[in-house]
Amino acid sequence: MSAPRGEFSSRFGFLMAASGSAVGLGNIWGFPTNAASNGGAAFLFTYLILAFALAYPALMAELIIGRHAKANAVTALRGLSTSPASRALGTTVGFAGMITVSFILSFYAIVSGWMMAYMLAAGADIVGANALSSWLQTPGLTRDSLFTVVFMMLTIAVVVAGVKHGIEKWASRLMPSLVVILVALIAYVMTLDGAMDGLRLYLVPDFSRVADTGLLLSAMGQAFFSLSLGVGTMLIYGSYISKRENLPALGGMVTLLDIAIAVTAGLLILPAMMVALNNGIQIYDDQGGLVAGPGLIIAVLPALFEQMGGAGMLVALAFFVLMTIASLTSSISMLEVPLSYLVETRSVSRRKAGVVLGAGIAVISLIIVFNFNVLFDLVVSLTTEYSQPLLGFFFAIFAGWIWNRNGILTEIKQGCEGAEYGLFWRIWPFYIRFICPLAILAVYVQMLFA
Ligand code: TRP
Repeated sequence: MSAPRGEFSSRFGFLMAASGSAVGLGNIWGFPTNAASNGGAAFLFTYLILAFALAYPALMAELIIGRHAKANAVTALRGLSTSPASRALGTTVGFAGMITVSFILSFYAIVSGWMMAYMLAAGADIVGANALSSWLQTPGLTRDSLFTVVFMMLTIAVVVAGVKHGIEKWASRLMPSLVVILVALIAYVMTLDGAMDGLRLYLVPDFSRVADTGLLLSAMGQAFFSLSLGVGTMLIYGSYISKRENLPALGGMVTLLDIAIAVTAGLLILPAMMVALNNGIQIYDDQGGLVAGPGLIIAVLPALFEQMGGAGMLVALAFFVLMTIASLTSSISMLEVPLSYLVETRSVSRRKAGVVLGAGIAVISLIIVFNFNVLFDLVVSLTTEYSQPLLGFFFAIFAGWIWNRNGILTEIKQGCEGAEYGLFWRIWPFYIRFICPLAILAVYVQMLFA
């Protein structure tokens, strides 16, 4: 190992960094639109159960392994291994996680670039630079490439500044701002005509949908993506937590923050969509489903903001600042995964590793931008639907079957004395051994054969 490892300076710093990773585009557009197209509160209900029963135990597995090893995913998983076979599995899972998260970052940077372009467009509108604003809002290879690269450069700049002075510092500034902007936007949207229809769509459950396997699949995928699981992101953040901290409590707080912000974002997005519908903007696609994903953010919402006149410019600015913040605190956590590996095992500096990896991932992003129709959905689905849950399964196997119970307990007891008598220790070991792997597998098999 080369340079001394970074560490978060406080509990608050870790919470902001980890919830910053968790809270991203997945919470602000993924969750609300998933909920709207899957029976409103029925989805919410299923999601809450899955998040606590499946995603939280999986998150804990990564945090515990990370803090125990104080190392990147490859080194950490290899270190837990007891046989040549499990060592090889550890290397494979660690590498597959790094590759997966790099591809996730490559598409994430494209969408985040759009958010930045719209943010600047709102700024341009405010100062009356109309031509610039309309260029910024028109999809095009130049605009998309430019902002993808700018967003990657921002990500690199934060990450190379270090764990404490980059990741923690920026997450601690940005996350509280995100909450303030989110709450202010909700308060404003609630005053508009049609907002209550949105609340109804969101909060009145269509319980006929609860047993729907499509709903289960979406809810589980959403929970895994939202908590940044399966690729070593939370493992590496866990490795920067001090041995004095209580891990089960910290993981619980991250899960709660992530869920709370997703649920709160629903109070903004669905009412805003219904306000848009009320104003004559099309919110359903050709198949009769709600416009979801990027389409919602870049088609429906800007049209709505434009109708609001003067206030709309400020609302648009606030909204896209919110999206950009959410993206950046997530993207830095993705880049940290391969970066920590290079720094710790290849003795390169953070700066060099950040620039080389960031540039490599930006090249992948550009290839996707130039072949958008062929590649974008493909990369999203391969990484988030296939790779991520499968890797999550193997993380559970490592924590539940390969690492011995005593080692785990010893790790948890640091910062949480008497852990062996607590609720967590009574439930979690069983969950991570049986429930998590089986549930992931069941959902996975369903997906493959559905
Ligand atoms: N959780 C983030 C979101 O909801 C995205 C994210 C960050 C992520 N790191 C990740 C997703 C690692 C998968 C893997 O938008």
